[in-house]
Amino acid sequence: MIPNLMRKVESTSLKGRTTYAFPESLISEQYRTIRTNIQFVNGVKKNQSILVTSPGNGEGKTTTASNLAISLAQQKEKVLLIDTNLKKPSLHSIFNFENNTGLTDVLSGKLTLEEAAVTTEVARLEVLPSGEIPGNFSDLIGSIAMYDLVENALKKYSVVVIDSPSFLELSATKILASMCDGVVLVVKSGKTDIKKAMETKRLLDLAKANVIGVVLNKLK
Ligand SMILES: Nc1ncnc2c1ncn2[C@@H]1O[C@H](COP(=O)(O)OP(=O)(O)OP(=O)(O)O)[C@@H](O)[C@H]1O
Ligand SMILES: [Mg+2]
Repeated sequence: MIPNLMRKVESTSLKGRTTYAFPESLISEQYRTIRTNIQFVNGVKKNQSILVTSPGNGEGKTTTASNLAISLAQQKEKVLLIDTNLKKPSLHSIFNFENNTGLTDVLSGKLTLEEAAVTTEVARLEVLPSGEIPGNFSDLIGSIAMYDLVENALKKYSVVVIDSPSFLELSATKILASMCDGVVLVVKSGKTDIKKAMETKRLLDLAKANVIGVVLNKLK
């Protein structure tokens, strides 16, 4: 459970990087707990892909994915954080760089993963921003090319953390969830409708996704 301590952080982009800016804070400790849970659940498999999703908009997917990725990198893991929210990409703002090229260029074969991944101020953490958004973006994230990209990334990175679109808004997110080794479901206290949360869990189970944890975000 993540208490609402991030209010203390004034810059929007900093909230996504609390674990980096304030490693000793209680909130950073909470992300380390999620990290430990992930490692415990998937203990036997070394390299793994983790999707962070939520039923709707603005529930904390990006914040959770970024902090989790930082927390993993701080533990000496080589981490790739991918922005698959092609409707509303935001990892580039969190980490302060331009979103000129990225995931969509790798999926279309224009760039390699090595060319498109961006190093960050956090040691061992690289970010693959969304890149320019094409018209058919909803097909892309559930494509074979996306599967290949994640598999390829797992040869180089210990953990691939994926920031996803809102689960109930884009059916391809189900396919993406089923491709990953684990799924972290974020629900926002006082905002996420319980029926939508249950529906998301039902669809994740149908897709045979491995839900390894639920984060209750912004708990008062
Ligand atoms: N625990 C928290 N405490 C305070 N603010 C938070 C917390 N979690 C998220 N926020 C803020 O809420 C807003 C939405 O969070 P975030 O961008 O992580 O959600 P999202 O699910 O990725 O949204 P979207 O559906 O638009 O991609 C952001 O401004 C973020 O800084
Ligand atoms: Mg987001």
